[in-house]
Amino acid sequence: MATQAEHIGVTLPARYYVDPDVYKQEIDRFFCRMWVCAGRADQVSNPGDYFLRELANESIIVIRDNQRQIRAFYNVCRHRGTRMCTVEEGKFSGRIQCPYHGWTYGLDGKLIGAPHMEGLAREEYPLHGVRTELWDGHIFINLQSQAAPLAAQLQDLPQKFANWRMQDLRLYKRKVYDVKANWKFIILNYNECLHCPVLHPTLNKLTDYMSGDNADPNRGYVGGSMGFKDGVKTMSLDGKLRRDYLPCLTEKERQEVQYYSIYPNLLLSLHPDYMMLHTLWPKAVDRTEIICEMYFHPQEMAKPDFQGDDAVEFWDRTNKEDWSVSELSQLGIQSRSYTPGPYSARERLPHAFEQMILQREREDR
Ligand code: FES
Ligand SMILES: [Fe+2]
Repeated sequence: MATQAEHIGVTLPARYYVDPDVYKQEIDRFFCRMWVCAGRADQVSNPGDYFLRELANESIIVIRDNQRQIRAFYNVCRHRGTRMCTVEEGKFSGRIQCPYHGWTYGLDGKLIGAPHMEGLAREEYPLHGVRTELWDGHIFINLQSQAAPLAAQLQDLPQKFANWRMQDLRLYKRKVYDVKANWKFIILNYNECLHCPVLHPTLNKLTDYMSGDNADPNRGYVGGSMGFKDGVKTMSLDGKLRRDYLPCLTEKERQEVQYYSIYPNLLLSLHPDYMMLHTLWPKAVDRTEIICEMYFHPQEMAKPDFQGDDAVEFWDRTNKEDWSVSELSQLGIQSRSYTPGPYSARERLPHAFEQMILQREREDR
């Protein structure tokens, strides 16, 4: 009986990480039916600005229209279904034109021109829309037209993180990683620091891996906070503070980092002086593209002696450590010898995440 008290549950069977059919079901369950973080409102600051996102083999255009509203459309022409736009990001000059026969659409998706189609009821052929909602500067999209509003998925997070004023922050650097691991391994890894002393020598000098408070896991997210070791002010190569604290944080919020996995694809890391975002873009059962972005306060960025690379380089190093061990997880779990292993009490969040995966699967049956 003693062994039962020492662990809180076991890891998932291998099929959840290696079976293409399970992968397909999960893409449908989590990425087509939940709100997915697509990017940031300031990526489309002006009418006509757009970027593309690939989600569940769909190409989606995220755009700002002439009324300054952010919208999203399937990148599919209503004439004969051609994918219209192939450049990852840019600016449409007032309209979107299909490269095949020249049908043109307004920035609001309405069909405004269809050569040699006199008498066509244009109002019947707008671009197919994708739902969009905003949270504090983050753009979320949902492929399911019946989905509950984003607020239901985020629950108490908008209130909890209001002091970071995320919409005021501006992008400093973006890096894209191609990781040979299932998307869930990235979330599992992000949500525990039991691996920190072994895997992250630099990070482990800054933060006490036994510190921190977890929020109660739920259907929408898992996460918690971690404190700093003595004398450390932020997560960076040397832990020194090179920027002012974000303006509205409380004394307590200045002394912690918040690490939250907001299902299915946003890892939100809120530091006392900056914000880091990871968005996960599954490409195959064993491959995930990860976009990592660092955001700072514009007042800091405007200072002539502004520095951000101490944080960027720190997280690039840490990311690479995490991605490489996630790839090893992928390789190991494929082995015929793998059987589910025990989770310790320090691994409550990854365990809760995997239980959520099972719970939602049961609900679909
Ligand atoms: S397929 Fe787009 S205009 Fe013909
Ligand atoms: Fe890590």
